[in-house]
Amino acid sequence: MKIAVVGTGYVGLVTGTCFAETGNQVTCIDIDTNKVARLQKGEIPIYEPGLDVLFERNIAEGRLDFTTNLTEGIKGAEVIFLALPTPPGEDGSADLKYILGVANDLGPILEQYAVIVDKSTVPVGTAEKVQAAIARNANVEFDVVSNPEFLREGVAIEDFMKPDRVVIGTTSERAQKVMEKLYAPLVRQGNPVIFMDERSAEMTKYAANSFLAMKITFMNEIANLCERVGANVDDIRKGIGTDSRIGKRFLFAGIGYGGSCFPKDVQALAKTSTEYGYDFRTLEAVMAVNEDQKTRLIPTLTDHFDGNLRGLTIAVWGLAFKPNTDDIREAPALENIKALLALGARVTAYDPEAMNNVAKLIPEITYCHTPYAALDEADALMIFTEWPQFRTPDFEKMGKLMNNKVIFDGRNLYDLSVIKETGFAYYSIGRDS
Ligand code: UGA
Repeated sequence: MKIAVVGTGYVGLVTGTCFAETGNQVTCIDIDTNKVARLQKGEIPIYEPGLDVLFERNIAEGRLDFTTNLTEGIKGAEVIFLALPTPPGEDGSADLKYILGVANDLGPILEQYAVIVDKSTVPVGTAEKVQAAIARNANVEFDVVSNPEFLREGVAIEDFMKPDRVVIGTTSERAQKVMEKLYAPLVRQGNPVIFMDERSAEMTKYAANSFLAMKITFMNEIANLCERVGANVDDIRKGIGTDSRIGKRFLFAGIGYGGSCFPKDVQALAKTSTEYGYDFRTLEAVMAVNEDQKTRLIPTLTDHFDGNLRGLTIAVWGLAFKPNTDDIREAPALENIKALLALGARVTAYDPEAMNNVAKLIPEITYCHTPYAALDEADALMIFTEWPQFRTPDFEKMGKLMNNKVIFDGRNLYDLSVIKETGFAYYSIGRDS
């Protein structure tokens, strides 16, 4: 099939590359001339494990190309994906200006029947708005379909190529057939393609992300309570996760969820609720708890140093909002570092991928080339991201480098029994220190 993908952000690039890999002819379109020039040279603007191999192969084999020209890019396309940003506006609702802008442009340039697919996370009712915007100037038949994306950064290729399910919102049989054909190679293991109407598909995406954010937040509150009652959240996680109704995944307590999706989507769903006159109290609680959770370890740290961090050096391991990405959007590390600086501490930091991104926002800390370099004469270590290379460090070496043997672990990386042997003082989330 010939496919066009408008928007070469995270979702657009992964969607385009993966559909090229399943044998389609894909053109990705973006208004950013610099970005397109880089993509044409074979450079990938994001860090995503495994993307490079597919990207290079599909360019080399002529199935994947890039352009800034929308008219050229969509020529002959049976399916046109819209993978455009929907940033939160000032009131928390998703801003549709990019999507509706492209929808307006598409109307007059469509030359034959096409399925236009909303891949971005968009509020309920957006498919209807896109339909109306295209219809205003279109001379051919078309359908607008909602096809939310459920991939996670860091494992995007795996999630895209082997989805648990594919959700497609359309009431058009013609569009349904096109989408079934396109997704057939990805659901061969029997995972379902679930068809529903457009509004339900749009709502499914928000419900999924909000539910997961709630699941994490609930565990974070259980962890906070565990500390007070003297229980261990690791055991609670195993104890409840084995109940298939609850499930094992997304039960890891820590310093809150971040990223470009959960915070934005929980906020947008709360906003939609308000617009429709419904007070969604669970969502309000999720947002408030997560905000507090992010800097939960700061009071623990200040207490450890008798209320004064002035002049101390705090080493930070992990800046990205989660491992295997350089994405720092809503990363708990940022708020923590700002709090540390405000309290008069000096900060040294290490992250395998995200240091350049943070350096642009917070130039006043010291960025180090290895995790151990960040520990040199540090008074404490704080861990904000569970990168694999932090999981089995050389504690002896760490102890020799640091002024004090103390770790504040926001991601519960170490077994309490292992830590006990090392002589480090250890604070984590929801477990005895
Ligand atoms: C999330 C969803 O998981 C994807 O299904 C969805 O497609 C995506 O948003 C999106 O809407 O585009 P992502 O933001 O890439 O994906 O990251 P997750 O792996 O879901 O992690 C989100 C946050 O939750 C991270 O800050 C992570 O540290 C935190 N988390 C996750 C926990 O604190 N505990 C857990 O048990 C799991």
